[in-house]
Amino acid sequence: MKNCPIGVFDSGLGGLTAVREIKRIMPGEDIIYFGDTGRVPYGNRSRETIIRYTKEDIEFLLRHDIKLIIAACGTASSVALPKLYDKYDIKIMGVLEGACKEAVSVTRNKRVGVIGTAGTVKSGKYAELINSLDPNVQVFSNACPMFVPLVENGYSESRAAELIANDYLLPLKNEKVDTLILGCTHYPLLTKVISDIMGDEVTLLSPGALAAQEAKAYLEKENLLSDKKQGVSEFYVSDSVDDFAQLGSTFLGETINTSVHLTEVFEQ
Ligand code: DGL
Repeated sequence: MKNCPIGVFDSGLGGLTAVREIKRIMPGEDIIYFGDTGRVPYGNRSRETIIRYTKEDIEFLLRHDIKLIIAACGTASSVALPKLYDKYDIKIMGVLEGACKEAVSVTRNKRVGVIGTAGTVKSGKYAELINSLDPNVQVFSNACPMFVPLVENGYSESRAAELIANDYLLPLKNEKVDTLILGCTHYPLLTKVISDIMGDEVTLLSPGALAAQEAKAYLEKENLLSDKKQGVSEFYVSDSVDDFAQLGSTFLGETINTSVHLTEVFEQ
């Protein structure tokens, strides 16, 4: 069991921000990644559709002999996981817990901002969890529906990204948040643009990276950390393999040189 892979999924490329951190802090782990690139984005879809897609993503990963699943998607974690946790025997971690714990511990003025997809913000789950950890923290949220297409199309550091980000972030800046959760795993790719607008004094949190740290703590506790020196990653997508390999390398911070497999099991 120890040397079984960790399964990670996202609607597309964003979950690679979690994979990047897993590889950094747990280099011996094998990873099976599924990016549902044929159906991205999830964030503006109905609750029922997000739940169905998330269920299918989990069931795809369960075809492999894995020891843990990380839903490295803010939308799946906040909209679908509360409905699905109990349905499977395997441990499934979302990205909210790590980010909310960290936000509560680093905020000095108890004003925390959350940005995410429309589905994530509408679910109110980040605010709910933060307030269950510390009821004195005020949470200010804003949906940023244009961020995912900007990132998925390689426009992360463009003038367009700056203009759109300015619009989305100004209300949170005006609320004087000192901590901002980038509540969608795609958003860390926009860190430069976001940080230029929010200023250096605002701490930006990446839920994918924090979920990887939570996963490490869980595997340590359960004595399930791999004892291999170097793990292997395998990638599966539901649309263009070449696009994923090319853009995915930016998310991962290294070239994806293992093969990316196309899976055609999902209806559009
Ligand atoms: N990475 C997903 C998330 O964290 C992207 C959202 C989407 O597919 O709209 O929410």
